[in-house]
Amino acid sequence: MDWEFQTNHEIIVRARRNATGPVWDYLAGGSETETSMRRNRQALDSLAFIPRVLRDVSDIDLSTTILGHSSSLPLFLAPVASLQIVTPGGSLCCDDAAEELGLINIQSGHTEPSLEEIGLNTRHPKFYQIYVRGGIEWIKDLLGRAKDHNFKALVVTVDTCVYSNRERQKLNGWEPPTRKNSVGREYLAGLSWDIWDEMVKIWGGPMIIKGVGTVEDALMAVEHGASAIYVSNHGGRQLDHDRGSIGVLPDIVEAVNDKAEVYVDGGFMRGTDIVKAIALGARAVGIGKLQAFALAAGGQRGLMNCIDILRTEIEIAMGLLGVSSLDELNPSYLAKARPVGLSHEMSAFPHLPGGRLK
Ligand SMILES: Cc1cc2nc3c(=O)[nH]c(=O)nc-3n(C[C@H](O)[C@H](O)[C@H](O)COP(=O)(O)O)c2cc1C
Repeated sequence: MDWEFQTNHEIIVRARRNATGPVWDYLAGGSETETSMRRNRQALDSLAFIPRVLRDVSDIDLSTTILGHSSSLPLFLAPVASLQIVTPGGSLCCDDAAEELGLINIQSGHTEPSLEEIGLNTRHPKFYQIYVRGGIEWIKDLLGRAKDHNFKALVVTVDTCVYSNRERQKLNGWEPPTRKNSVGREYLAGLSWDIWDEMVKIWGGPMIIKGVGTVEDALMAVEHGASAIYVSNHGGRQLDHDRGSIGVLPDIVEAVNDKAEVYVDGGFMRGTDIVKAIALGARAVGIGKLQAFALAAGGQRGLMNCIDILRTEIEIAMGLLGVSSLDELNPSYLAKARPVGLSHEMSAFPHLPGGRLK
């Protein structure tokens, strides 16, 4: 296809131009000192590759399965709230892009259009993400609607029991639409394993727990019937001074021991980043900020352009590592290394004007 952008650098520059006022800070920012957000990049930047040569890599297969559904790449679209302020069409752009690219998209429970509209928009497998903001009857109603509308798995976000302090938004005197609506916040604060267990019974299908950062919670989630553990610190938007996501991945993968799939997100901006996570045992990687930047740059087409760039990067990295399929990747292809520069949310893009966009 004839794409407008050759690099994700250009996509980010265009996104910055289009996402005016506080919208940019909403997409690009983290909580408080933004240390968790930077550590996501720092942890990725602290891994170097160990390549092998003279292996036939003329046919590289990037496909995988996610909870049994085929995926053309080891990545999925992470849930992103309030997409209607980023691009006309909101998450319809993600759903259409995912269908065309053979990917899974996770519809945020806090984005537009509605669950029903997204569910009926396409037939490819997609997942629904829920913030629990009501009691059991509210949960039953929502899960019933998700099940009736083509969502194949439920993603329960558990790292938002308390809304974090996002100072970029405060400094702008601005809040995203979802923040303004505080109905049912007490249910998020009161979320517990007992309620999770109720949801497992009500949903009766695969459940993904999103926002796990420790071996202990990953093991509890497996015990409580999770089909997948989604390692995430919400892109550094919730607890500040957390560890970088990919740094906690290997211990969780080892402890879970194939009893559930393991996904990860946080700072993933490059094909090389994704290959690192797969080598450490993740089944797939979620893209949050980069997805939002691509949508801001060019809606559905911008997102497809961005993912095509990632696809090429993954293929290049695998070829140069000497592997032809994702299951050949393992930790022997990685070593610890000192980052070559200061890590921050833009540090995967060293050629941005001024080195960084604010
Ligand atoms: C603008 C924005 C909105 C988000 N909204 C949600 C959401 O509604 N539900 C959720 O579980 N996570 C949400 N997240 C977190 C992402 O799903 C994902 O965990 C995070 O963005 C990954 O880090 P990355 O942005 O560095 O890729 C949001 C992230 C961003 C950037």
